[in-house]
Amino acid sequence: MKKVGFVGWRGMVGSVLMERMQEENDFARLKGKGVEPIFFTTSQLGQSGPDVGVPVGALQDAHDVDALREMDVIISCQGGDYTGKVFQPLRDSGWEGYWIDAASSLRMKDDAVVILDPVNRDVIDRALNDGVKNFIGGNCTVSLMLMAIGGLFQQDAVEWVSAMTYQAASGAGARNMRELISQMGCIQSNVAAELADPASAILDIDRKTSSLLRSADLPQSEFGVALAGSLIPYIDKELENGQSREEWKAQAETNKILGRQASPVPVDGVCVRIGAMRCHSQALTIKLRKDIPMADIEAMIAGANDWVSVVPNHREETIQHLTPAAVTGRLDVPVGRLRKLNMGPEYLTAFTVGDQLLWGAAEPLRRMLTILL
Ligand code: HSE
Repeated sequence: MKKVGFVGWRGMVGSVLMERMQEENDFARLKGKGVEPIFFTTSQLGQSGPDVGVPVGALQDAHDVDALREMDVIISCQGGDYTGKVFQPLRDSGWEGYWIDAASSLRMKDDAVVILDPVNRDVIDRALNDGVKNFIGGNCTVSLMLMAIGGLFQQDAVEWVSAMTYQAASGAGARNMRELISQMGCIQSNVAAELADPASAILDIDRKTSSLLRSADLPQSEFGVALAGSLIPYIDKELENGQSREEWKAQAETNKILGRQASPVPVDGVCVRIGAMRCHSQALTIKLRKDIPMADIEAMIAGANDWVSVVPNHREETIQHLTPAAVTGRLDVPVGRLRKLNMGPEYLTAFTVGDQLLWGAAEPLRRMLTILL
C-alpha cells in the first residue's frame, strides 16, 4: 500500500488544499487505488486526523524522519522554515519519495521543478522521466500570470512582459487578511456618526480618516502601515539591485516554469499590495515578437487551458467579471482589457485576476499528486 503524507494541512494553504481534494473526491480516489493518507502535525501528536471522508489514523510527528521515510509522497504546506529543517535530513537518510511543497525554499534548486501543469506539463513529464523527485509550487503572481497568458508563451509570441501587480492580503498570510478587515472596520467606526449624518462635510470625514490611517490607533501589527484606504508598493524582501524579491521572482520563476532558463524572456514590474482579500490582479504590458492580430491573440490566450477566459474589453463585462470580488474562490482566470497600446502594434496590454490560494498555491500541488498517483 502506498502512503501520502500531509504536513501543514491545517494552515490557510493546507486548508484550501484539503477543501479542493474533497471537492474533487481525491481521497476516495486514492483509497480506491490503495493509497493511504497519513496526516502529520507539529503540535498535536497522537490526536485524531481530520475528517476527509475516508478513515485516517492518528496524527504523526512531522519532525520524525523515520515516520516521514515511510511515505511515498509528502505534500508540505507547512512553510519554508519546516522545509529548511526537515527536507535535507530526510533526503540524507536515503528517502527517495516525492516531495511536493508550497514553500519557496527549494523552488530554484536544480533538482526541483516548479509545478503548474496546465502550463508546463511537458517540463513535469520530462522531469519525472529523468527521476526528479522534488516538485515545488510557484510564486502565486507568476503562476497566475502564466495561467492567464501561457498561450502567448506557448506560441513563443512574447519578447518581454512587464507585470504591475495588485496583490491581495492573503499572499502575506492569514493574519494579514484579518488585519485588513480590522483596519476597514476601524476606519468605518471612526467616522460612523458623520456617515450617518447626510449633512456632514466630506472633507471632515476625509481629515478624520487620513489622520487615522497615519496613526498608531489603526491595527497594523502585520502590515506595519495602513493597507485599507491605502496600498503598499513593496512585497517581500529588499534586494540590492532595487527590485523587491517578489519582483525578482517574476523572471526567474517564469522561465524556470517554462523550462527556458537558457533563453529567458525578460519579466519585470512593480509588485503592490492592495486591500483585496485573496485575488491577485495584474496589469500586463506585453511586447510581442511581431504584430499579431487581436483575434489571434485572443484565441491563443483562451485556448491555452480550461480555466482561462477572455473578457471582452468593454466596461460592463470588465466590472462584472474582471475583479477580485468576482473571481474569489474560483479556479477561473479571466483576462481582459486586451488591446494594442499607442506604443505600436507589438505592444499589448492585458489585465488579469486570479485566486492566489487556488492556482497561486494549493491547486498545482493537488494536481501534482494526481499526476503521481
Ligand atoms: N509572495 C506572494 C505575496 C504570496 O506576498 O502575495 C505567494 O506566492
